[in-house]
Amino acid sequence: MSVALIILAAGKGTRMNSDLPKVLHPIAGAPLLHHAMQTGAALDPARTIVVAGHGADQVTAAAHDYDDAAEVVLQSEQLGTGHAVDQARAALAGFEGDVVVLFGDTPFLQPDTLKRMITARQSHDVVVLGFDVAELQPRYGRLIMDGERLLRIVEYKDASEDQRQIRFTNSGLLACKADTLFDLIAGLSNDNASGEYYLTEVAQLANDKGLSVTAIKCDEAETLGVDSRTDLAAADAIFQSRARTELLNDGVTLAAPDTVYLSFDTIVGRDALIEPNVVFGPGVTVESGATIRAFSHLEGCHVSRGAIVGPYARLRPGAELDEDVRVGNFVEVKNATLAPGAKVNHLSYIGDASVGEASNIGAGTITCNYDGVMKHRTEIGARAFIGSNTMLVAPVSVGDEAMTGSGSVITSDVEDGALAIARAPQVEKPGMARKLFEMLKAKKARQSRGS
Ligand code: UD1
Ligand code: MG
Repeated sequence: MSVALIILAAGKGTRMNSDLPKVLHPIAGAPLLHHAMQTGAALDPARTIVVAGHGADQVTAAAHDYDDAAEVVLQSEQLGTGHAVDQARAALAGFEGDVVVLFGDTPFLQPDTLKRMITARQSHDVVVLGFDVAELQPRYGRLIMDGERLLRIVEYKDASEDQRQIRFTNSGLLACKADTLFDLIAGLSNDNASGEYYLTEVAQLANDKGLSVTAIKCDEAETLGVDSRTDLAAADAIFQSRARTELLNDGVTLAAPDTVYLSFDTIVGRDALIEPNVVFGPGVTVESGATIRAFSHLEGCHVSRGAIVGPYARLRPGAELDEDVRVGNFVEVKNATLAPGAKVNHLSYIGDASVGEASNIGAGTITCNYDGVMKHRTEIGARAFIGSNTMLVAPVSVGDEAMTGSGSVITSDVEDGALAIARAPQVEKPGMARKLFEMLKAKKARQSRGS
């Protein structure tokens, strides 16, 4: 049976104390919403409906950024989780499959858990996902069970003292056939402590109609919701710790795992070595056997086998390092390809450029790619030698086996095998330095006598 996801993401997230809608706050470089959508993707949903409210434009853009086909419906007033789901009614009119309701602020749900919900849905009309709390908390709805049957869900605010002692709590996730769910939601009231239309009331309404209602369990860690910056930081820390462990298990050496920051999509090959204090932004692939030395910052780039990057290197989007490339300290590479064995070892900026095989870029070299309005490319051939402190004023090319003299400002193309020198010729004045020193010292002496 096909599945539609309804992802609730309309809340303001007041406790985040932020202009950014809560579900757009990132964990490991991706908004909470993307984490939720990624989990949901495990069900191969036929439809994905995101319920947006606060910051709806931004939330819509983020939803489409993850999945062009995601549909966004608006909940202009946040009247509760049940009311939020109701906003998807028109979009899902005539949809025959199951609906799974997810929260946009719950990033750690495991794909298997969603699959178990769908399996349970085959034998029950309504399936709620619950978890046992290690410590009782003054939040979360309590699940009132009778054997396998879920009788109802009581929100903390509405619960009696006895009910508050129940450890089996509501994660917020629910699976139900679409038409059944919308029938039940039509019967919700807001007669409760919060004056909201609670999605959780569906459990009792379903029982009243003689439907079969159950709750299955997942690990408490999966249901961690983000409500504050503290929660966000804690969630990120959990993500980082899991991702590092995964890399270690995959055969990557992390010299000081706790100091390496990973993104949701970081890929590192076996036997790669990552030194301390390396930051991976989104979109990085590091192949087997590459080394990323300490204090480097990488995003949107690809590092091939045998390459060595850093210490203190910055690889920005579009940096493509082929095998055995060297990028050393205080070098920035952006939108540039470095062919096998190319070296840029010290203090350089290589942007909008290509560097051919085994070429050496001397210290302090800069591709001057920006004229204040437009960006231009620099093409450097194979086995070229770029002298230290060369300014390559793009658009410009330097041929195979060509050289530039250090300190050159290269403004026109250099052909294969040529040496280009573009700097003022050296002038030498014998004895002039000593003379100058004497003049200056005499001047200083006069000044200190006079004062
Ligand atoms: C909800 C559940 C509670 C459960 C807890 C788990 C209800 C009534 N309560 O409470 O049983 O233990 O989650 O974390 O469902 N949202 C909207 N529109 C609204 C209200 C909420 O889109 O009008 C969205 C929020 O953006 C959020 C999600 O729904 O992503 C959950 O809302 P929240 O206010 O956090 O619910 P809880 O009080 O945590
Ligand atoms: Mg919540």
